[in-house]
Amino acid sequence: MDITAEETLGASDIGLVTRYSELREEANMPRSIPMAPNNCSLHELPVPSSSTSEMDSLLEDPNNSCMHQLPVTNGDKNSNSGGQDWVTILNRAPLRITRAIKQYMYDENGVEYLDCVNGTAHVGHCHPQVVSTGQSQMAKLVTAQGFVSDILKKYVKQLVETMPEPLSVCYLTNSGSEANDLALRLATSYTEREDVVVVEDGYHGNLGILVDISPKMHSKIPNYKKKENVHITKLPDQFRGKFRYDDEEAGLKYAQEVEKTILAAEAKGRKIAAFICEPMFVIPGVFPTPPSYFKHVYKIVRKHGGLIIADEVQTGVGRTGNHMWGFQNYDIVPDIVTIGKPLGNGHPMGAVICSREVSEKLGGYFSTFGGNPVSCAIGLSVLEIVKNEKLVSSAKMVGKHLQKSLQELQQKHPCLGDVRGVGLVQGLEIVNNKEDRIPDDKLATEIMYSLKQKQVLVGITGRNKNVLLFTPPMCFTIENSRRFAKCLDEVLSANSTRMPLDMRPRSVIVTNKAGRKRPIIEKSENQTMMECDESNDSKKMRISEAEIDHYGDMD
Ligand SMILES: Cc1ncc(COP(=O)(O)O)c(C=O)c1O
Repeated sequence: MDITAEETLGASDIGLVTRYSELREEANMPRSIPMAPNNCSLHELPVPSSSTSEMDSLLEDPNNSCMHQLPVTNGDKNSNSGGQDWVTILNRAPLRITRAIKQYMYDENGVEYLDCVNGTAHVGHCHPQVVSTGQSQMAKLVTAQGFVSDILKKYVKQLVETMPEPLSVCYLTNSGSEANDLALRLATSYTEREDVVVVEDGYHGNLGILVDISPKMHSKIPNYKKKENVHITKLPDQFRGKFRYDDEEAGLKYAQEVEKTILAAEAKGRKIAAFICEPMFVIPGVFPTPPSYFKHVYKIVRKHGGLIIADEVQTGVGRTGNHMWGFQNYDIVPDIVTIGKPLGNGHPMGAVICSREVSEKLGGYFSTFGGNPVSCAIGLSVLEIVKNEKLVSSAKMVGKHLQKSLQELQQKHPCLGDVRGVGLVQGLEIVNNKEDRIPDDKLATEIMYSLKQKQVLVGITGRNKNVLLFTPPMCFTIENSRRFAKCLDEVLSANSTRMPLDMRPRSVIVTNKAGRKRPIIEKSENQTMMECDESNDSKKMRISEAEIDHYGDMD
């Protein structure tokens, strides 16, 4: 059974919350969505010109790689696996997800996994309201080519309303990459400069220019030569970096690193158009900063004539729990905000939001699919669900609960070096021990696979590939977080009697009395029962029918 944060923390709010599971009956009912024509066209089309509202005038300019290791395979041995070990692991533990609902995913055998990493399924996999809205709009009108639609206006209005002043102009795109590409165009047109400051190990998308501003990608491209207009500054890593948690001035000192980078560029005659980064540095391994960091950085960048681009592809639409947008955690307002993943709950959507002043210098923007009625209908339903199901406050409460459990585990397990994050974005840094803090990527991979055996999916991120990434759908509950912490505790405890990966047991599928399917562990070829008796997995070898029933009923 699902337990929402509201249920756990008191009954007062429950009446206001429509839970995902309760929405199922509505799923099949067609929703009435206003239809009408659009404007993101290269051509002049006969669109109505009667409307004079503020939003209409705003709509004149506008219209928007998996970077983590995941325990999945597409069966392609040549896929981007990061080396032989990875291929071996994939071969031993293939996972082919065929369907998903809420915060659960199911493989081809019908085995259920708790999804702790698929942030793109923001309001829950296949949320019935999103599905029915998309289906219903698809049956009415799909094209955006040259027509202004009411639904586009309505969506842009609602999205812009979530932003602080002066961010009032919205462009709709089809991905986070397109959003970042457009943000760079906006910044370079506005400043009439070309140079960009980026942070170590940052990732901002898969278009050519974005690969150039994504240090994470540079090492993956043979003979890659960094572009002269790209300047890489220090990641504000307070765990292993130059300035650590015990340094009260770490925020200021890391901001000064940004200024040093800008000054070094200026010394070469280069002027900065923009500083782009994620508000929580999720891709480099989740690094929330001291509030002073961004305050200083924003001042410094602006003093040198640059604009600030906040890449909210990972942190947007309430994930951090305190606010709709990650940057709001620091009481700052960027010049340009880019959004992607969560907007469409899996449907490809992105957006750029900036001030009118910044947008004015862009000139034209055209996108065939950006802002099409189906995307807008889906985007609207995502915003509605976030509000109706109180997913932002839920993320805050579930995140707090989880972080507390994880901090307890951190005390207990020497390899859990650091636990960082806010709301439903958390990074768990795996190290050799707390004193030396040497990143242990192999152990992180083992933990990811051991969790998978316990039907819990996490990802791995970070430049040392040693940070377990936790970014689940926002309907993740406190009960789910208990299960995650319990499984992690078991895996980390088993790690003290650790055995090499190819000696580990593998799973087979069993069906319980209720007809539910679960993986159960069988010994590997070179392993005797005795050898794995100490491991936690061995307990599962002897799992009883009653226990299976219990697990099957858990959710
Ligand atoms: C921080 C960040 N920015 C931009 C992107 C690119 O978004 P998309 O894959 O939708 O193009 C990603 C994708 O993972 C991302 O994590």
